[in-house]
Amino acid sequence: MLEDGELLTLSLDKLSGSGIESKKEFLFGKIHMQIKLVPGNSAGTVATYYLSSEGEQHDEIDLEFLGNSSGNPYTLHTNVYSQGKGDREQQFFLWFDPTQDFHTYSILWNPKCIVFYVDNVPIRVFKNTEKLGVPFPKDQPMRIYSSLWNADDWATQGGRVKTNWTLGPFTASYRNFSVDGCIWSYRTRSSSCNSTDFSTNPMLKMELDRRSRERMKRVRREHMIYDYCKDQWRFPRGPGPECRVNN
Ligand SMILES: *[C@@H]1O[C@H](CO)[C@@H](O)[C@H](O)[C@H]1NC(C)=O
Repeated sequence: MLEDGELLTLSLDKLSGSGIESKKEFLFGKIHMQIKLVPGNSAGTVATYYLSSEGEQHDEIDLEFLGNSSGNPYTLHTNVYSQGKGDREQQFFLWFDPTQDFHTYSILWNPKCIVFYVDNVPIRVFKNTEKLGVPFPKDQPMRIYSSLWNADDWATQGGRVKTNWTLGPFTASYRNFSVDGCIWSYRTRSSSCNSTDFSTNPMLKMELDRRSRERMKRVRREHMIYDYCKDQWRFPRGPGPECRVNN
């Protein structure tokens, strides 16, 4: 931690990666973090930023930044797990170099939807489609995590490009973390948000309006590089029912 606790860096060398986790657990919230990723040749490194509950049937909302060799673009990898089931990957190229400056990456999680944002532009929504039989993360409190680790067996260009350890230690920087969320208390087994909050707090009620949906569509058209909803090879019997409403 540097600058009076305003700046955090995570580093990775051949011996170890590093990570942080929130002390508090949340059941719904909107979180923001500004991140500047490992510059130069970051092949094989993965910076994560995610929410996760514990246990086998866990829920998880994932953002992962897959490094690349110099001059090649980072991949932003997203996924949503509900009750232990993931396999809902969508990947993007960013429209800027994420190693030059800090950019804001946000996750909105409320009972209606999960939305991923880059610099306040929505890039992905995962709606609550319990009505269609798809479990939605809404019963298990989650912690917020971030880490920098090595995954050169798969991360960069399918594992073909390995980490060049002579360039280490690799460093990613974090600042301006903020969370507007419902804090979970294990002692009372209850959330700091009550039923009034659920009908008045915009964070808990929010869904994408028309304008944001249009914006998201455009970003996805231009920058999405992988969508599990369109992967017939992995899902020959068709994608999950949530795909019908999330695109
Ligand atoms: C790295 O760059 C190559 C070439 O542009 C691209 O195909 C790949 O998706 C990029 N990202 C990763 C994580 O390999």
